[in-house]
Amino acid sequence: DGEVYKYYADGEWRVSGSGKSVAIVNPTTRQTQYRVQACTQEEVNKVMDAAKVAQKAWARTPLWKRAELLHKAAAILKEHKAPIAECLVKEIAKPAKDAVSEVVRSGDLVSYTAEEGVRILGEGKLLVSDSFPGNERNKYCLSSKVPLGVVLAIPPFNYPVNLAVSKIGPALIAGNALVLKPPTQGAVAALHMVHCFHLAGFPKGLISCVTGKGSEIGDFLTMHPGVNCISFTGGDTGIAISKKAGMVPLQMELGGKDACIVLEDADLDLVTANIVKGGFSYSGQRCTAVKVVLIMESIADAVVEKVKAKLAKLKVGSPEDDSDITPVVTESSANFIEALVMDAKEKGATFCQEYRREGNLIWPLLLDHVRPDMRIAWEEPFGPVLPVIRINSVEEGIHHCNASNFGLQGCVFTKDINKAIMISDAMETGTVQINSAPARGPDHFPFQGLKDSGIGSQGITNSINMMTKIINDEYSMT
Ligand code: G3H
Repeated sequence: DGEVYKYYADGEWRVSGSGKSVAIVNPTTRQTQYRVQACTQEEVNKVMDAAKVAQKAWARTPLWKRAELLHKAAAILKEHKAPIAECLVKEIAKPAKDAVSEVVRSGDLVSYTAEEGVRILGEGKLLVSDSFPGNERNKYCLSSKVPLGVVLAIPPFNYPVNLAVSKIGPALIAGNALVLKPPTQGAVAALHMVHCFHLAGFPKGLISCVTGKGSEIGDFLTMHPGVNCISFTGGDTGIAISKKAGMVPLQMELGGKDACIVLEDADLDLVTANIVKGGFSYSGQRCTAVKVVLIMESIADAVVEKVKAKLAKLKVGSPEDDSDITPVVTESSANFIEALVMDAKEKGATFCQEYRREGNLIWPLLLDHVRPDMRIAWEEPFGPVLPVIRINSVEEGIHHCNASNFGLQGCVFTKDINKAIMISDAMETGTVQINSAPARGPDHFPFQGLKDSGIGSQGITNSINMMTKIINDEYSMT
């Protein structure tokens, strides 16, 4: 109907002075579903100024009051789960039930953050001087945590609500202001989520949400002198941001090539269930998806058959019908996936199913006998296509895993717990799951990537700490 969703600044919903908008294309219909404002650099400057002012007062607001508002926002968010989930279905083709789960998980995350915040920020530290050589006990140090200032949050399309609140919650409880730049696909869901924070009654200017073209406001935001911390989840853009950002703490999560190493003694049904869930839920569009299976040759045939049988039962179709496999987020994403598939075909991979694509919808595909010279052995398709590499030794599997430029998560399947721990220690990744598929949650667990997979560690507690600074009051008795 031509409506353009407003952006959120200074506690109000506003129309951009640019007179321009950005279209959000529904991945299923491939038609424009919504439009959001194309904010200008001048509008970003205003948002930054307002955030700076609001943050000063917010930092002085008692911790328990900050927590109270976050609990309120969490409850409102859950009340609004249906309309927000509907946006997720239309903007990013997330299956209907998963879309609702994302919103509920987000409400839980915000509540937990409020509780965790009052505990860990409610504690300081007292140090005495005489534990260091040469000192008498004549000096005390009171050390406590203070906010950084203005946090810039940039979540990705695949969790536009959950990976936004995982940045917003910790920033706010710690006394920071928050500027959100949502992904284009998922921007309306994010705006609706911000509306829940608005309804909860946070002070004006403390939270803002600017939408627009990356080319116009992307670098401008990340290089803005008013930003004191950047929390980003997404792809390669994060590497570019880390090079351009100023001297501010960065929290980055930039994808992965999570390996699933399967040993001969593994429970094959458990392996199968986790390969299908890990590799194909939300059509493989998760940074923690299983992205390469490294399986011992002797059990490979059996597992490939089992996985094939399970894949045949997946429902492929629209997110509204709660299909398991839904259209990938954009046409260019589908083209990228297709290019990886075609490269593997040319180089002789075995197709366990026929490759099938209609628009952005790609049918689940398992590629067997993948070799290291194929792009799909190393690149992340972010789609429902999974390569299987057959290995003859555990070392071969570990070697492939560690040769990747990514190091987010990985998993190992074996009944021998000693072996599992040894392999897990040898894998250069932020987390190794033993006998289950990679996953970020539960959301209070530390979550981090090595190498090109990221900077810093997330999870509720780590994010709160990361968005604070330690300051001392030191007292000398003379
Ligand atoms: O896409 C990246 C997310 O952090 C993965 O989260 O493991 O809960 O799907 P998830």
